[in-house]
Amino acid sequence: MARRKMLYDGKGKTIFEGPEIGTVIQYFKDDATAYDKQKQAILPGKGVLNNRISAYIMTRLENMGIPTHFLKSLNMREQLVREVEIIPLEVIVRNVAAGNLCTRLNIKEGTVLPRPIIEFNLKNDDLGNPMVTEDQIFAFGWADPYELEEMMAMSWRINDFLSGLFAGIGLRLVDFKVEYGRLFGEMGELYLLLADEISPDNCRLWDLKTGEKMDRDRFIEDLGGLVEAYERVAQRLGIVPEGGIIKGGSVNEQLAEGLEEIENELARQRKLKGIKRTNPTNPRKI
Ligand SMILES: Nc1ncnc2c1ncn2[C@@H]1O[C@H](COP(=O)(O)OP(=O)(O)OP(=O)(O)O)[C@@H](O)[C@H]1O
Ligand SMILES: [Mg+2]
Repeated sequence: MARRKMLYDGKGKTIFEGPEIGTVIQYFKDDATAYDKQKQAILPGKGVLNNRISAYIMTRLENMGIPTHFLKSLNMREQLVREVEIIPLEVIVRNVAAGNLCTRLNIKEGTVLPRPIIEFNLKNDDLGNPMVTEDQIFAFGWADPYELEEMMAMSWRINDFLSGLFAGIGLRLVDFKVEYGRLFGEMGELYLLLADEISPDNCRLWDLKTGEKMDRDRFIEDLGGLVEAYERVAQRLGIVPEGGIIKGGSVNEQLAEGLEEIENELARQRKLKGIKRTNPTNPRKI
């Protein structure tokens, strides 16, 4: 296979140059990190499951009118996506209190919030991804009011859709984090696309009946069984077979590679021609 140019090596994914201008390949790693990389582990199979779960969810979202970067799955660890200029903000939507909301505001984990809440964090690992206000976002130019409004509207819709999707498979969507990116058309017009990934690495999912955590907190809280939990999420979504693809702590490659392709027909139909590289396109965070 021809050597591909690596554009960015992140904590959970590596970004490679894509086969066509305006596309990149997301490679999902098995690495898990927390607390600014102080805690690290390799969890065999995590990347395969996140690749598949994210591909499926992005396709479902595209079908209900959320434009996403996802084009198609390439193999068990890689997917083809449209290259975007990442807006350096994490958009967090919360339905139930968990994580740093509890410590920051002294709220008991599991408290149902009076209404869903949106928060913004600046994507900057060196600063520990600090929470930022709308006014700071506009003043420092991380996004303009039009973009922020659009990102918020999309995030509310994503929350409603995913809450229903997960409730349908016995899971409670406690909160999630998404990223958006800019795409520029031929005439300089701007499109905002949902980018990055949606998986149990950035959604808190609790079993509706037992309250069991089925997400990245299994790693953070040393609960063990993270890959098994992710696999159960994928099984309930009906995107890995009942027997599973993880056997004895490693991926059954034959089974994983044999899974049905996931393709985002709607995003594919959007013509690629005329989408120019931004100047310069830089998937790195600021
Ligand atoms: N369609 C896309 N085009 C360009 N860059 C993208 C696209 N989708 C995601 N990215 C970026 O690729 C990188 C993926 O790496 P990864 O998810 O491992 O995160 P990271 O940079 O290590 O950390 P964090 O997600 O906490 O910022 C992220 O910086 C993400 O913003
Ligand atoms: Mg990331």
